[in-house]
Amino acid sequence: MSVFFPSTPAAGKPNLADLRQNYERGALDESTLPADPNVLFQLWLGDAIAAGVVEPNAMTLATVSSTGQPSARTVLLKGFDERGFSFFTNYESRKGRELTSNPKASLVFFWKERERQICVRGEVSLLSREESDAYFQSRPYGSQIGAWVSEQSLAIPNRAWQEDRDIELRAKFPEGSVLLPPNWGGYVLKPDEIEFWQGRPSRLHDRVTFKRSGEAWERFRLSP
Ligand SMILES: Cc1cc2nc3c(=O)[nH]c(=O)nc-3n(C[C@H](O)[C@H](O)[C@H](O)COP(=O)(O)O)c2cc1C
Repeated sequence: MSVFFPSTPAAGKPNLADLRQNYERGALDESTLPADPNVLFQLWLGDAIAAGVVEPNAMTLATVSSTGQPSARTVLLKGFDERGFSFFTNYESRKGRELTSNPKASLVFFWKERERQICVRGEVSLLSREESDAYFQSRPYGSQIGAWVSEQSLAIPNRAWQEDRDIELRAKFPEGSVLLPPNWGGYVLKPDEIEFWQGRPSRLHDRVTFKRSGEAWERFRLSP
């Protein structure tokens, strides 16, 4: 039984082969692009926010294990500056362990309302404890406690286990007194390559990629 390419789709079942979108909201013209991809990223992020994209700072983070097995998941971009793209997580999670053994990682933003994708490749390093603490202290109380509750990526007995832990930890750390967990903090990904993708009609999309070359960036148009 195939649900992917049914020649005669069953009633009520999606025919995935026929799900497609024609992209026609924009174009990428090198003559008008900034020479610095960081500037372009900021323009596109601002545009996504202005366009009302839901969670425009959500990005897919791909990491690779020491055996070469990739894993991808969504995280939130929490900072962007001359060092790169920052996010926060549990250092002992799967992603944290993989980044320790292999700091090379990739990020993908997909802003479907703008028919745009940005793919970033580079290497991560840890943000300082001071920066991690500053961000942690800005989080809502429940999220601060959540970082203590979660032994992220480990198997737990059931839902009640984490709800009990939440109650215990709220008693231990009243609001305003939650310390930064030792296994939680930020990473920054320094980009070596940033690719901008704009959907175009008939699959003739625009792809422009910037590769770091010393202190400068080289720019190429890629075949879609
Ligand atoms: C929209 C969205 C945003 C998320 N943001 C974060 C985040 O910023 N940090 C984080 O650790 N997990 C975040 N998560 C959860 C991760 O996707 C993932 O489940 C978790 O980090 C464990 O991943 P791992 O086991 O691969 O390390 C987010 C999930 C979604 C759907």
